[in-house]
Amino acid sequence: MPAPAVPATLDGVDLTALAAQLGTPLHAYSASAIRARIEGLQSALHGLDAGIRYAVKANSNLAVLQLMAAAGVGADIVSSGELRRCLHAGIPADRIVFSGVGKTEDEMTGALDAGIERFNVESHDELLTLQRIAQARGSVARAAVRINPDVDAQTHAKISTGKSENKFGVSIDEARRWFAGRARLSHVQLDGLHVHIGSQILSLQPYRLALARVADFWRELEQAGHPIRSIDVGGGLGVRYRAEEDQPIAAADYAAVIGEALAGYQGRLLLEPGRYLVAEAGILLTRVLRIKQGEERQFLVIDAAMNDLQRPSLYDAWHDIVPVVADPTRPMTRYDIVGPVCETGDTFARARELPECRAGDLLMIMATGAYGASMASTYNSRPLAAEAMLNQGRYAVIRRRQPFEEMIAGEQPARNWQTT
Ligand code: LLP
Repeated sequence: MPAPAVPATLDGVDLTALAAQLGTPLHAYSASAIRARIEGLQSALHGLDAGIRYAVKANSNLAVLQLMAAAGVGADIVSSGELRRCLHAGIPADRIVFSGVGKTEDEMTGALDAGIERFNVESHDELLTLQRIAQARGSVARAAVRINPDVDAQTHAKISTGKSENKFGVSIDEARRWFAGRARLSHVQLDGLHVHIGSQILSLQPYRLALARVADFWRELEQAGHPIRSIDVGGGLGVRYRAEEDQPIAAADYAAVIGEALAGYQGRLLLEPGRYLVAEAGILLTRVLRIKQGEERQFLVIDAAMNDLQRPSLYDAWHDIVPVVADPTRPMTRYDIVGPVCETGDTFARARELPECRAGDLLMIMATGAYGASMASTYNSRPLAAEAMLNQGRYAVIRRRQPFEEMIAGEQPARNWQTT
């Protein structure tokens, strides 16, 4: 098998030089690639009254959020921390929707006061809490009920959200009761539907099924005199993690399925893609620390670890891993690619074929722009990796490598003992 042809640049930036200047491990994102994804989706949605609400959890770096803001993209948030990031980055509150089963009263109050676009409400208790908070503050909360359509998204169990066994949303039967009791909601404007069935979805069929259920319910509600002004179809669009195999859904096909399912709907459509906008724009640059010949397997020990990118250890996720400098003279060799963290789960790939590696070689772990840095931790007291935005031959550091002092900044010796 010939060595893969590897671009040594990303968005016009020489990755070898970048790694030398900023060190590794390094999360690097192509601004051009993110913009291209946004524009592609926006143009696929042309003709629909639709807005994109980027799922901030995928990559919440302020510079990424600023890129979204500049492109007119709003946000789907799940915490007050994400709300503050968005406002800080210039995403207007009236383009922010708030999802999640565990919104606290403080979070709801803050979001209401900020004037967010809509709460995606996930339980009856949350609905009543929202009513109480809005009444106390003399304002009205716009809300959508998150429907759990009981559809199998055919993705990894840990990122599947639309089955009735999952904690998300409520059944259509329960939602029906909410609307029937709508008159009692003096301070909640319940006129939206929301659905999100899972993540890394590679087939249109689960979308068709879920949207058909939502569309039936929307028609039923309209007939019952409950106008629906907003339908949020969630996120979940899959991306290409295996260059040769994964066949992601084309934006145009996705838009067509939405348009068909909701034909005749006059209100606003919202989409909450996360991964689709940022995953393939990002790489994790890492250096080979050493080769270790085990009894049974050959280990390639790299300087990135599960704390920098959790997806392989958490979901057995596949990420392509390729050398930054392609050298066709090197024979293909089989490695288990592992990080320095003291867990067997700190494995990025097993029995992966790569051109023979040497200590000091640079590798890129591909498609790490989503759920990479945003899920990072300092496990094993490894500082958070640096992040860089790349744009047409230039780069900017958008997160400096975490200094040790910052990593321990909140900690202190047990000194001032108190009793409760
Ligand atoms: N909307 C809601 C309500 C969500 O919960 C999510 C993701 C999204 C939108 C965006 O989904 P996306 O378009 O990115 O698939 N850490 C996992 C993914 C967890 C997704 C959680 N919710 C991973 O690395 O695969």
